[in-house]
Amino acid sequence: MSKEKFTKKILCIGAGYVGGPTMAMIAARCPQYKVTVVDINEEKIKAWESNELPIFEPGLLDVVKEARGKNLFFSTELEKNIKDSEIIFVSVNTPTKTFGEGAGKSADLQYWEKCARDIRSASESDKIIVEKSTLPVKTAIAMERILNENERGLKFEVVSNPEFLAEGTAVKDLENPDRVLIGSKETESGLKARNEIVEIFSNWIPRDRLITSNLMSAELSKLVANSFLAQRISSINSISALCEKVDANVSEVSRAIGKDSRIGNKFLHASVGFGGSCFKKDILNLVYLCETFGLYEVAAYWESIVKMNEYQETRFVQTINKALFNTVTNKRIALFGFAFKANTSDTRESPAFYITKKLMEEKAHVVISDPKAIKNAKVDLKDFNNKIEYEIDPYKAAHQAHAIAIITEWDLYKELDYEKIYNNMERPAFIFDGRNILDHQKLFEIGFNVYPIGKPHLIHFNES
Ligand code: NAD
Ligand code: UGA
Repeated sequence: MSKEKFTKKILCIGAGYVGGPTMAMIAARCPQYKVTVVDINEEKIKAWESNELPIFEPGLLDVVKEARGKNLFFSTELEKNIKDSEIIFVSVNTPTKTFGEGAGKSADLQYWEKCARDIRSASESDKIIVEKSTLPVKTAIAMERILNENERGLKFEVVSNPEFLAEGTAVKDLENPDRVLIGSKETESGLKARNEIVEIFSNWIPRDRLITSNLMSAELSKLVANSFLAQRISSINSISALCEKVDANVSEVSRAIGKDSRIGNKFLHASVGFGGSCFKKDILNLVYLCETFGLYEVAAYWESIVKMNEYQETRFVQTINKALFNTVTNKRIALFGFAFKANTSDTRESPAFYITKKLMEEKAHVVISDPKAIKNAKVDLKDFNNKIEYEIDPYKAAHQAHAIAIITEWDLYKELDYEKIYNNMERPAFIFDGRNILDHQKLFEIGFNVYPIGKPHLIHFNES
């Protein structure tokens, strides 16, 4: 297809976990559009142009290859690409602010606002700007104000299209989403812009899954969706602590309550705690928003979900320390998994980081194993210099270890030969299953002392 035949020219600013996969899917499903993704990070752009993509995501390389070089392009040239495009998705990072007012809770909007100003200064024609990043409510309005304060008389319409993909299943989620949400102003020009975005997704997504709303509802729905998902995990994790006290089994409780169709069975998997770049950030964003409007009880309610998650991580480390006779000093402890969940190399806000840090403070000898995330783990843990060992092979990681802690639910950990592992470990040998993915009775019979989450501990001696 020649360049002139492209019916829409789409640009995405930000080639990260969202921008890259989302644009690859749009390009693959809409060969009639030209899709360009720009980023300030040259290395990342080079990786998107290669077969070693900057992120690990099952099935993503195939989707990228379907479109790359035909109607999907990666570039570091911001200005020219802004000029050339009609629709610009902005998918830059919006981390929690670490300084000044709102530090620790509100979103740091500096990258976001820079994009607005770059778009304004480079544009020579009217454009639709799509808010893809997750942002505080009313950011779209603020962006529109900045953009429309231009001397060329250009008109910008800002549409909110929050992303709901989860890492590890991004391709599946983009291909077949539960819904796509598109919010706009309900003016004539706002509705026209909304329809342009609806048209993009209707190329492969049934119309009844394309939901529209006003701008603020769309922005708020994203924060609320993540907060509700995290709330379910914190709820079941809080119950896991009680289960351990009363000899109940949290998986049985999850199954029993999840069968109630009003509750539903998803996101009820007790764990070492939720991680990822967004849950904590987005809940805190919601908390800050509530505080800003004086809704302190509402803010405290949502903040408790983050506190419960921190409690669960702390509890996990305390269990390890207590089981290992109140000292982990100089003991080799193998962490199986560093990614915040399976099927991703992403380690942002992974419980593994907190657990490693706590074990290092106790002067344990920590060995980190992960099939995909060791590179990121090394960056995260650079302050510990050479004190941490990294070993991709779980058998070697567990060799002569006192304990194994399962942090990430990678399938490969379910299939290991634990008898072989046990035979090469120090005695007594311990296993802490932070994801409840292993056969605990079998491990106990092999000889391990087994500590699942929210289930009775299986130990070969009396626990005092
Ligand atoms: P990311 O850090 O992986 O990617 C953001 C990219 O933006 C980076 O590569 C960065 O270099 C680039 N960038 C920043 N400023 C730029 C600028 N001025 N010009 C060009 N490039 C610039 O972040 P992400 O995980 O893709 O998240 C992006 C947004 O999407 C966030 O708001 C996040 O909350 C939201 N979100 C993320 C996920 C997820 O699974 N990661 C899911 C849904 C929504
Ligand atoms: C989450 C949401 O699921 C996405 O809809 C959203 O778009 C995204 O955040 C975002 O805004 O960034 P993600 O963080 O990639 O996606 O992954 P999840 O599958 O939601 O898992 C988050 C964390 O919760 C992981 O650490 C996971 O292991 C943990 N989890 C999940 C549990 O501990 N128990 C569960 O039952 C489910």
